[in-house]
Order: sequence, then C-alpha cells, then structure tokens
Amino acid sequence: MTYLVSPTIRDLTAPPVAQVQEWIDQYQGNAPMIDLSQAVPGYPPHADVKAALAEMADQDDVFSYGAIEGEPQLRQVYAEHISQLYSTAISADQVLISSGCNQAFIFAMMSIAKAGDNILLPEPSYFNHTSSLTMLGMTAIGIAGDPARRFLPDVADFEKAITPATRGIAVVSPNNPTGTHYPDELLNDLYQLCKRHDLALIIDETYRDFCDLDVVRPHGLFDHPDALDTVIQLYSFSKAYCLPGYRLGAVTAHENTIAEMAKITDNIQICAPRLGQLVLSRVIPHLADWRHENRMEIAARRSAFRTVFETLRDWSISSDGGYFGFVRHPYSDRTSANVAAVLMRQTGVLTIPGGFFGSAYDDHLRFAFANADIAAISSLPERLMSMLV
Ligand SMILES: Cc1ncc(COP(=O)(O)O)c(C=O)c1O
Repeated sequence: MTYLVSPTIRDLTAPPVAQVQEWIDQYQGNAPMIDLSQAVPGYPPHADVKAALAEMADQDDVFSYGAIEGEPQLRQVYAEHISQLYSTAISADQVLISSGCNQAFIFAMMSIAKAGDNILLPEPSYFNHTSSLTMLGMTAIGIAGDPARRFLPDVADFEKAITPATRGIAVVSPNNPTGTHYPDELLNDLYQLCKRHDLALIIDETYRDFCDLDVVRPHGLFDHPDALDTVIQLYSFSKAYCLPGYRLGAVTAHENTIAEMAKITDNIQICAPRLGQLVLSRVIPHLADWRHENRMEIAARRSAFRTVFETLRDWSISSDGGYFGFVRHPYSDRTSANVAAVLMRQTGVLTIPGGFFGSAYDDHLRFAFANADIAAISSLPERLMSMLV
C-alpha cells in the first residue's frame, strides 16, 4: 500500500517528548522514575478550578461553538490581568484565546509571515518553534546565545542576520530550555531593532508566572505607548493553572492583528474549548495568592536543584530559571540523546537531550526540575553518580 506524505512533514523530527518517553520502558531499576522531561507542574490544580470544571461541565453553552477570538468574559478578565501585571492598558479586543501556546505561536507566525519568509530565534531554541516554522514553509534562523551570559543573545547578531525575508524575532522568557529570564534592557533593544526594521517581536511567556523571585514584572515592553504595533505576546494557561490537557493559551496583540488572526483561528480550531475558558474567567482573579505560593515552591525546587549540582564534580548547571536547568553533562564523546537514554535506562531519570534544542547543545541535558518535589530532586546525585556510560 502506498500513502502520501508531504516532504515538509516527512522531514520534521518526530515529537521530541514522545521520543524520550520511549526510553521509559527500558528502565532497569526498582526506584520510582523521576520524570524531568516534559514541563508539567508537579502539583495538582487548585480545588476551585476542579470544582468549577465539575459545576460548569453540564451547562448547555459549553457544548456549542463559541466566539472565534475566545469567550468574551475570559478575554476581558485576561486583559485586566495583563493590564494589572504590566501596569498598562490592554483591552479585550487585543486578546485572542487559542488552544494552547504552541497553537498561539502558529497563529502569530501565520499572521505576520508567509512561506519563504524567515524568523530569527535565539539558540538554544524551543523545538516546537523551529519545527512549527519549518512546517509552515518558513525558515527559523538561529542566533546563538552566549553561554557565558546564560545563553542570552547579542542584539548585534540579530541585526546582522536580518534579510529582506525576515518578519520577526521570537524569544521565550523565562526561556525554554535555558530558564534564563530576559532582562528589560535586552528586550528593549530587541524591540527598538524590530521597530527600526519593521519586524514583529514575538515573546512567548509560558513561564512568566515562575520568574526569578527578584523580578517584579516580567518585562516593561508595554510601557512603550505603541507597543502592540510591534509586540505579539503569547501565553499558556497550561503551567500556571495546571491544566495542560484543557489546551488553552492566549495572544495579546494589536486589535487589527487579532482581527486578522481570527481568520486563521476560524480555519484551524473555530474556537478554543469553552469549558476551560469559562472556568478560567471565573478563577483567574482569585488565584493570585495560589500562583504566588507556586512560584515560591518552584523557586525552592530550583534551590534544591542547584544544591544537587554543587555536590557533583563532573556535571554543571550552565543556566537555570523558570521550570528548567540546562546542564552540561560530562560525556563529551557521547551525543546528548545517548546520554539521556542511558540515564533513563539505568537510573530512571528522564530528561531531554540538549541536542533537541540545537545541534550545538549536544553537551547538555534539560532538566525540568519543576516537575519533581524536593525529595525527588535531592535523590538526583546518587542516581547520576550511579550511571555507567
Ligand atoms: C516555550 C513554550 N511555549 C509553549 C509551550 C506549549 O504550551 P501549551 O501547553 O499552552 O501549548 C511550551 C510547553 O512546554 C513551552 O515550553
């Protein structure tokens, strides 16, 4: 039997998280595995979220199609939330609700660029961003970050890489995989660069609720009066609200961009799942303390993670923050995929190979420390030291 497949899709790599999960069955040990691969909050959703989901699940509304751009209540509540967080004035018509932030990225790319165009991304880069661009016939141009500065990129390198086909610069802050929070000054310089060259600055803020504790607000980009002429902000409800299975994310952009994006949204999803949207519109304003407690908890996990690597001679943290530690492994003659596979097989610790975030990062593994509690994190030295490569 023959089947058709587009060469563009055939040439994409298989979904990275699914690839590493295949190693789980090969685990030879008895201790429970520690899954530090896919970034998922290692604690349950708030009881109010569960209660509201149960209560609203049989409302007739949630069974029918909803508004393309998102439930009006959620757009309003989220716009108010953003306005408060950034001391700015975002309106509901500058918000669109998507089925998760990966989809929000695709919406953003399709709304600013066409096949053949390119987008500049700092490396190491989030694999779904590069893969999505390739899927859309666009080119992801990687700009290497400086390992000495927690992989933050140099603005001059972006400027040199701009071509007539460049449509935007896409960053993730706090970053996946490095954890690094992008400082205001760098974001501001990237913003000015984008303005000068008529590019969009896309900022994926999936991990913004888990910024370093000294960060007062994630960034000051919205202080610019016309920020939304240039900035497209992406967000995921998966992490902060612990509902990745409900598939909800958000875009904040100029109202005209949102109106254009609605055409894409209608073709792809018609509307984001309604039940989760209605629940979020009810709970977001009341969960500020809970979100803060979780930010403190993730910070405590990060401290425990740092302690682990103080005791290990050959491993070292290159950067950390948000949900992640990007760690240099000691096996320079092995690929990161090989090291990660052996680590899982022998010790039950599942990580993501650094090479999945760019070929230059094969000497690294990404540990999503947010997934595990402090007791599990504290057991890492023994496991890592027991590994025989
Ligand atoms: C940077 C980044 N963007 C987007 C996503 C996907 O988020 P969602 O579950 O909302 O699609 C992730 C998830 O790991 C991520 O790390």
